[in-house]
Amino acid sequence: MTKANSDEPVRGRPATRPFGGYDVIRSTHRDEELTLVDKGTPCGEYLRRFWQPLALASDVRDLPFAARLLGEDLVVFRTRAGRLGVLHKHCSHRGASLEFGQISDEGIRCGYHGWHYAADGRILDVPAETRPGSYAQRMCHGAYPVREYKGIVFAYLGPPGEQPEFPIYDFMDAAGEDCVPYCWPLDCNWLQVRENTQDPIHLTFLHSMFGIKQFGANLANAIPFIRAHETPLGQVTTSIRRLGDIYYVRINEMIMPNVARVPDALREGRAIPNNEANAVGTGSDTKALRYKRLLPSSHGMGLSMWVIPNDNENSMFFGWHHVPSDEPQSVRDERIRQVEHGQTKDRPYHERQRNPGDYDAIVSQGKIVARGNDKLTSADVGIGLYRHQLRSGIRAVAQNQRPKGLDVARTAPIPTFAYALVRPAPPTGSAEEEAARVQALEKEIVADLMAFRLPQTSRALEPA
Ligand code: FES
Ligand SMILES: [Fe+2]
Repeated sequence: MTKANSDEPVRGRPATRPFGGYDVIRSTHRDEELTLVDKGTPCGEYLRRFWQPLALASDVRDLPFAARLLGEDLVVFRTRAGRLGVLHKHCSHRGASLEFGQISDEGIRCGYHGWHYAADGRILDVPAETRPGSYAQRMCHGAYPVREYKGIVFAYLGPPGEQPEFPIYDFMDAAGEDCVPYCWPLDCNWLQVRENTQDPIHLTFLHSMFGIKQFGANLANAIPFIRAHETPLGQVTTSIRRLGDIYYVRINEMIMPNVARVPDALREGRAIPNNEANAVGTGSDTKALRYKRLLPSSHGMGLSMWVIPNDNENSMFFGWHHVPSDEPQSVRDERIRQVEHGQTKDRPYHERQRNPGDYDAIVSQGKIVARGNDKLTSADVGIGLYRHQLRSGIRAVAQNQRPKGLDVARTAPIPTFAYALVRPAPPTGSAEEEAARVQALEKEIVADLMAFRLPQTSRALEPA
């Protein structure tokens, strides 16, 4: 039996003998403390303490835009005067959806009986109410603070007295770089989506051997050395792979509670057109162009990625592709096409079976994963740390404390920690010697990372 809302994991039982299917007992424990997001749930209240993306600015033009965030139905709109508003979707009068309302100079007017709302929820007009000072004229409609930043609309759905400043991280405002917004919907719970970025081992399989090969064949069979570390903002998961005579070091970051940053992909380059300027290698003439960056940026950042719950069983990636401002449009379009391939279900089923992408691996786990069936390995160390930090943040909010991620110095821009670099990898004599060298390298890089001693330019992906 599942213990609803219990903190006690209910473990499943695996088969322990061949043809042991009958022996298996599946857990149904959904770890509701981490997965359920409605108002009043522990995780829902936690996520409400942070600004969350809910729409692309390009979807909020002359018509209202219906959105769903943390189980709440909302309408996002831009007044004719240009002010953004986020209101509860259902009209205060008798519930018609404001997505069918009329945009006005100051707000939005319900399309059913004309109640008129300002962007902050004040009721400007109740046309058919003849009693002056009636309740309807004195109340407000549900509204939330809203902020637009580089093509994404963010809202704060938490208690007004707890509203934090809108955070500006360094990757949001890097010189010489454009932020190209994206939104990818997934029809499953937010947590299994969020965990994907702290799971570097899947690059070797899903993205190199079995799936869409975004990282090229060079990552296939390259099992990385993986570690996870706490940062002031959340955590980083490091992975180091030997690719011939270089080590490829990736440092994925999680900014609590739900912002991930993944660094540039590195892949064999000769097949990538118009990408010569972003080559990396060992520095010799013959090898310099062997590896190239899939989405180069001044910070070495491929993507920033929020995962927001629309509700308990639907979620969305929101974020930016970080790309050089001077990149030709055709090159940019091709890079982004490669990155976005496999992130949605918009492909024929048989093609997804032959060539699965992130969407297929994440959503096929189920609507809400029963985590009592998980068998975490040492490669899942980043996921284990993330779950621990998430639970700590949820419990901090429940106890009226400030959770990690809010409790940082608000000096803009806030420095972050994701990174990618390569280092020369001369031959080693034994597996033990190789392991010792990789461990030492990882320690050295993490120490430099935490002390901000790594170069903050595109040179990060050139050999030291
Ligand atoms: S339902 Fe909106 S004004 Fe009546
Ligand atoms: Fe992936």
